[in-house]
Amino acid sequence: MPTTPRKILVTSALPYANNAIHMGHLVEYIQTDIWVRFQKLRGHDCLYLCASDAHGTPVMLKAQELGMTPEALVGRFHAEHLRDFQRFHIEFDNFHTTHSAENRQLVEGIHARLQERGLLSWRSIRQAYDEQAGMFLPDRFIRGTCPVCGTADQYGDSCESCGATYAPTELIDARSVVTGSTPVQRDSEHLFFHLDRFGASLREWTRAGHLDPSVSRKLEEWFAAGLRDWDISRDAPYFGFPIPGATDKYFYVWLDAPVGYMASFLNLAGKAKGSGAPVPDFDEYWAEGATTELYHFIGKDIAYFHTLFWPAVLEGAGYRKPSGVFVHGFLTVNGQKMSKSRGTFIPAATYLEHLDPEYLRYYYAYKLGPGTDDIDLNLEDFVARVNSDLVGKFANIASRCAGFISRHGEGRLADRLGNAALFDDFAAAAPALAGHYEAREFGRALREIMALADRANQYIAERQPWALAKDPARSREVQEICSDGLNLFRLLMLYLKPVLPAMAARAEAFLRIEPLRWEQHDQPLLDHAIGQYEPLVTRIDPAAVARLVDAPRPVAPAPAPAPAAARPKAPTGKAAQEPAATIDIDTFLKVDLRVVTVLAAELVEGADSLLRVSVDMGGERRTVLASIRKAYQPEALVGRQLILVANLKPRKMRFGTSEGMLLAAGDDEAFLLAPDEGARPGMRVR
Ligand code: 2FM
Ligand code: ZN
Repeated sequence: MPTTPRKILVTSALPYANNAIHMGHLVEYIQTDIWVRFQKLRGHDCLYLCASDAHGTPVMLKAQELGMTPEALVGRFHAEHLRDFQRFHIEFDNFHTTHSAENRQLVEGIHARLQERGLLSWRSIRQAYDEQAGMFLPDRFIRGTCPVCGTADQYGDSCESCGATYAPTELIDARSVVTGSTPVQRDSEHLFFHLDRFGASLREWTRAGHLDPSVSRKLEEWFAAGLRDWDISRDAPYFGFPIPGATDKYFYVWLDAPVGYMASFLNLAGKAKGSGAPVPDFDEYWAEGATTELYHFIGKDIAYFHTLFWPAVLEGAGYRKPSGVFVHGFLTVNGQKMSKSRGTFIPAATYLEHLDPEYLRYYYAYKLGPGTDDIDLNLEDFVARVNSDLVGKFANIASRCAGFISRHGEGRLADRLGNAALFDDFAAAAPALAGHYEAREFGRALREIMALADRANQYIAERQPWALAKDPARSREVQEICSDGLNLFRLLMLYLKPVLPAMAARAEAFLRIEPLRWEQHDQPLLDHAIGQYEPLVTRIDPAAVARLVDAPRPVAPAPAPAPAAARPKAPTGKAAQEPAATIDIDTFLKVDLRVVTVLAAELVEGADSLLRVSVDMGGERRTVLASIRKAYQPEALVGRQLILVANLKPRKMRFGTSEGMLLAAGDDEAFLLAPDEGARPGMRVR
């Protein structure tokens, strides 16, 4: 333990609970997790908190589209995200949700304080309204032709083609994404937070070393542009917390999202009470004047929220401000934005089907620094870097030495170092490496660690234990050289442990030692029995990376139950292959399966996963809403024969009623099942 452990609270941005975690998200969670693991390895008292970002219009609409409640959708993604994080060894001390009692209580408390202090006021604003859906439309839910360059189908706030930003009212031929109707303008009362009152204290905070210089410079631009009041309310229908004292008004998701950091803390403290675990004290971490450390890791797209709104809300409500906001850049793959068509938009779960998570942890760490530059996952370089560093340099030290220890040292490390000076050099690297980790200079740390690995390999190559081993009289020397090698390996493993926790656990098992701690960097392991060496890491097969890019992608987050096409989302990996429980023939015969011919198929406005398919079932017409839009063009379906579950209870959805289910194969993709030639519409399938 350091003499005075620091008390550090760390967060990563809360993932929206309506989409899968992908390779882009992982940059941040891996970066944060490495930093937190480093702090813990040093003996500091560090808490890593996160939560699902549950509220907002996209979550509400997606839940409607899938025919489920927003709570159920959030629950589903909460579990899925946590599973993905755990598989990448991202170890939160708590992963809560913003749709929680703790968050509501905190948000209401903050609202009351801001109100008491005169920091909020209502005023009327004019906004786009979808009369058909009966809702106000966020800018992202309006599309139309760019008023500047004329490109069709652009968002209501900016053009992806020419980069222009504009008001949704300026769009040509604006349409609601929800219903396809033309939005009208309507007035509504909104609640505003007076950000302008915090100009002086935000300027002071920004310049006091809490931010990377590149972020501070961005803030100076924002100050120069002027701080405008912030609209923190949304009209019903909305999935969020109702604003006390108002009717049909909700807090905007971005107000309650960062409060979710505090809610996750409260939830953790609640769970710790009575469990025997230490109960962290809320005020010690959140009260104004708190001396504990608070750091938020975020992406550059949400810097405005975390460096202006959030500190201002905290100050306004009488809480402490963050000690630091650590902003990273975006991920590119092979030098380009991630893209579904290029196959480089890779969900975390897809990666895990093909590759070890620690390869990615290592590669991202190698690329990461403290700044906001984008980082590139170049797939060829990824293979070369991991194979060269982890397999060729690092693990090679252990694999070269281990066998000699069993054969020439009876499985025991020597009782003294052959080359103490070399060990001391490796030990002396610890303070500089700690400095790099602390400063989030992970790439620099790894380059220096690999330079040490080169030296270790060079030492072994020079001493040639394999040549000495031929002479039985020199066994002692062989044991000493290889003990040196394994001691150097052990220090390198300690230095790499924040990045490669699973590999570290395997190395600790091989060396038969307790979990390594940073303070052990100057203590060699001597006269100690070690275990049998098992390869710690295998080379990346470039073919596995190729498969990753070609892997089928989820058509859409699977609804539960599936609305039309039979595309139940089985868990990925082995579990997906497990057969369902058996049923008897009578149960099976209750399912009325029929051959149908597709008469017409069309897109469903506002539902990005669905097609409306009309089929002929031998004289009877049925309409089915099927989740196959990403896999099939509507016109390509017309005339095809398919199989329909004909006696499924009709399901009422927001887009109409689905009268059956089209059979399809695939866990994540839809492959429609078709009868062979000769089948006629209406025929029973047996
Ligand atoms: O941008 C996003 O993905 C948000 N869900 C991040 C929220 S971070 C915090 F403020 F809650
Ligand atoms: Zn444009």
